[in-house]
Amino acid sequence: MQIFIDTAEISLLKELHETGLVDGVTTNPSLIAKSGRNFLEAIKEIAELIPGPISAEVAATDAPTMIKEGEKLSAIASNVVVKLPLTFEGLKACAHFASQGIMTNVTLCFSVTQALLAAKAGATYVSPFVGRLDDMGFNGMELIEEIRAVYDTYGYETEILAASIRSDAHVKAAALAGADCATIPPAVFKTLVKHPLTDKGLEQFVSDWKGTGQSIL
Ligand code: G3P
Repeated sequence: MQIFIDTAEISLLKELHETGLVDGVTTNPSLIAKSGRNFLEAIKEIAELIPGPISAEVAATDAPTMIKEGEKLSAIASNVVVKLPLTFEGLKACAHFASQGIMTNVTLCFSVTQALLAAKAGATYVSPFVGRLDDMGFNGMELIEEIRAVYDTYGYETEILAASIRSDAHVKAAALAGADCATIPPAVFKTLVKHPLTDKGLEQFVSDWKGTGQSIL
């Protein structure tokens, strides 16, 4: 499963990119607002830092303007993915970009039928929002499982990008459900490597090794 980081904070991306484990980045208008950065400059900087797909979301809600905005975003760098909302207007824009060979990420997906339409519109990625469904008392991960089943049945190539991930349990469930990618907030990414038994075991190994008085180098 590909790991994307869900942030527009360049300093955090630099830090996490050093792990060699970051496959891409997703942003949205709320994350851009939180970063306080100029949108176009931030996307350019992120796209230069991380060679994988970088999602940049349009602001318009009508297809003709989304297309103009998406063309501008896509021109920033070849790894920019145009992020579009899951509305009929967004899907029209998605089909346009698919016909031009421009990558798209159809976002704000909350149902299997929405995901079906995104695939039919030729989306590169569809982003089902797991955490926000959980917030409403639904099981967000079931949506990932169901989209996986539908896409596999019909052979759709749209990649399932599990979004609105809130915990390492979400990451595990997304992987088990067959998501192609998960976009993970930096704080959650940092927890993925953690296990108390790893810490305890390493502490013991370090202490026992010291006791041998040996050195490998
Ligand atoms: O980038 C979209 C998505 O990951 C947002 O997550 O936590 O705001 O629901 P959240």
